[in-house]
Amino acid sequence: MKDLIQKLVEAWGPSGYEHHVRRLIEAEVADLADEVSVDALGNLICRVGKGGTKIMVAAHMDEIGVMATYAEKKSGYLRFTGIGGLLNTTLMGSRVRFEDGTIGVIGAPDMFGSSRMTAPDLDEFYIDVSDGDGNGAIDAGMPATFWRPLEVRGSRLIAKAMDDRISCAIAIEAMRRLKKSRKKKPNEVYFVFTVQEEVGLRGARPAAYAINPDLAIALDVTSSGDMIKNEKMAVRLGAGTAIKVHDSGLVVPPAVRDWMVQRAEADGIPYQLELLTLGTTDAAGIQTARAGVASGCISTPCRYVHTTSETVDINDVEAGVKLLVGLVANPVAL
Ligand code: CO
Ligand code: ZN
Repeated sequence: MKDLIQKLVEAWGPSGYEHHVRRLIEAEVADLADEVSVDALGNLICRVGKGGTKIMVAAHMDEIGVMATYAEKKSGYLRFTGIGGLLNTTLMGSRVRFEDGTIGVIGAPDMFGSSRMTAPDLDEFYIDVSDGDGNGAIDAGMPATFWRPLEVRGSRLIAKAMDDRISCAIAIEAMRRLKKSRKKKPNEVYFVFTVQEEVGLRGARPAAYAINPDLAIALDVTSSGDMIKNEKMAVRLGAGTAIKVHDSGLVVPPAVRDWMVQRAEADGIPYQLELLTLGTTDAAGIQTARAGVASGCISTPCRYVHTTSETVDINDVEAGVKLLVGLVANPVAL
């Protein structure tokens, strides 16, 4: 699974520009789904099974990034705006990659002054794409993602875009395992690889409208509270997959939460309950589609969310795959 994770996290796909990631996933799921389609917004929808309870599983393909808003051709400097929730404190010296492979470095004026000690406003920063030749290939309107390769440290995996490619990997792996145990699965599952989550859950909502599921599960990362001097959140890395109870956009219906908890207990899967005070997931969008969809969320605990060093534990990832497979094969009657 590590090879798949590496391919996914290193792929390029800021919100609205998910085509490279989608192509990669399309190749992975070609033999795993009964039907694959792409909707008008770019969501990749994969149906497995037919009849019975309709379950939608959503993992977002997009990642946070930046978009050049003004290019100073002679200097090779770009002004830019954020795509998704950027953390200003992580920007200085960060590398971004444009679709053509051009690497940019984020800087701010007064590098040894106040901007080095406190984070300036976003519009103070610029991206340096100078090539020493007076030419920059980047124009206003071109998007970029942050760039770092995957690193492995024991059971920890460190990369950009763990949010949410780790969930894309979980969904693909679940599809693989379901394929192997095909006869045990009478219901209809839609694995949806969504677009534009980071800019406001814009892909998941219309996908849910089209699918009209009985039940939905979003897959995403969640923060952890086990960093040094930080115990405000109970979720820990390596302590199991996280079953969401509540976040700022979703109150998980108790019946959905209990279905997940009982499944984890029955299958002996390590899990923890997640209460997130900041942020939300595709489930928040899906729950308000049409006349409403009972929705829950399985989260992978992650340190340093929305930085280039998002860190997860492979054991939590494995627990998430097992729980997802168990859930979609044993739907709850609501
Ligand atoms: Co995010
Ligand atoms: Zn996410």
